[in-house]
Amino acid sequence: MIQFPPSERRRRLPTNCRWPLSIALVAITLIVIFFAYHNPSLSDSNILSGYSLEEIKPSSDSRYSDLSRLIPQLYKPFLHPIDAETFIGENEVEYKIAQNPPRFTKSLGKKVLLLDVDTRALNGEGGMMNDHISYHDLSPHTAGMLSHYLYAMIHGYEYKFIQAPSYTDRHQTWVKVPMIREALKTYDYVVFMDADAVFHYHHLPLEWLFNHWNITSDTMLAMALDPDADFNKDERGNVNLNTGFIIAQASERTTEMFNIWEDCVTDNKYANCSKWRYEWSHEQAAFSNYLRYEYTGPNEVISLPCAEANGYPKKADLGCTGEFVRHYWLDKGATVGALQDAVTQYAALRLHDQFHRHMKSTLVNATGTTLPLKEGEGVVV
Ligand SMILES: *[C@@H]1O[C@H](CO)[C@@H](O)[C@H](O)[C@H]1NC(C)=O
Ligand SMILES: *[C@@H]1O[C@H](CO)[C@@H](O)[C@H](O)[C@H]1NC(C)=O
Ligand SMILES: *[C@@H]1O[C@H](CO)[C@@H](O)[C@H](O)[C@H]1NC(C)=O
Repeated sequence: MIQFPPSERRRRLPTNCRWPLSIALVAITLIVIFFAYHNPSLSDSNILSGYSLEEIKPSSDSRYSDLSRLIPQLYKPFLHPIDAETFIGENEVEYKIAQNPPRFTKSLGKKVLLLDVDTRALNGEGGMMNDHISYHDLSPHTAGMLSHYLYAMIHGYEYKFIQAPSYTDRHQTWVKVPMIREALKTYDYVVFMDADAVFHYHHLPLEWLFNHWNITSDTMLAMALDPDADFNKDERGNVNLNTGFIIAQASERTTEMFNIWEDCVTDNKYANCSKWRYEWSHEQAAFSNYLRYEYTGPNEVISLPCAEANGYPKKADLGCTGEFVRHYWLDKGATVGALQDAVTQYAALRLHDQFHRHMKSTLVNATGTTLPLKEGEGVVV
């Protein structure tokens, strides 16, 4: 749950383990922001406080375009600590980390790449590669990509979009396989997402999810399970893994796995894999039928619960509510609302907080007077 309690409310909250941390975090943030306000060289707040719109010219004022500093500052008071033992979701469900003490305690920063890949031009109306888009024509695809970009910016990860070449011998969904492999040459962790998949809690860092999902130094790949239905099962009857959200960790063994995955359709290693060149579910079926049975060491290939990393609340009957990662397979337009929430929820709470902290200037308390005003009375605004 996103909470940004004013001091009154904080005092009334029952004590449990998450609050002292939150209070410390809010206090530290306020100190940082206070300091930032009084130190122009550190401050993006000046954009909001000290400059009129007239003065902010995109071409002349570099601070105007420095969103990569403004965004983290906006979300900072809400960030869930990386090393927290628990996270409480919006339905009051408590999630725990897999190992205590946690493996990840510090931000991985630019060691993590959030990756979008597409072979299409995406330059139509509302498309990401169009120079100009109108807010109301934002395509669901663009909203998904912007949401990934935002999440990366909040937490200081790298974000990239690869406009990929097209395969001529198989379905284009295969292209994520070689592109992730290439990205792993530069980044320790690559988190790939389909454009219809988005993080649900923008204030929850990946490192915490890594702790929760038991990502270790042995982990090569983590992907979510598909809904438990016959058409989602591999030849052995096990539910397929979905490639719409992939956590990949760089290692020699991971590179080898990606090579085998890409070469799968040659049938050299696995007879019949060529059928997945064009037949649904393409690279997903190839991985689920063959690769996952090759890499079975502890934590090597992690199957994430569908309830946590696949689907969305309307698919709760399938057990796939997408608590942490929403994957809107059949409701792709929902990414637009998700992006709007990801910005508005936090910004609205910050605005409310700002109003309260500056009440001396934002509030005129005229309730002590009676209307119509008497001779000599006034409301000083
Ligand atoms: C996490 O991984 C470690 C190391 O493989 C294992 O010992 C532990 O049981 C795992 N924890 C969970 C909750 O899966
Ligand atoms: C490949 O497919 C054929 C025809 O469906 C089948 O007879 C054969 O057993 C399959 N081979 C393997 C190794 O699964
Ligand atoms: C506004 O003024 C009234 C009467 O003077 C007072 O009772 C009330 O607490 C004030 N409200 C705030 C928010 O300060």
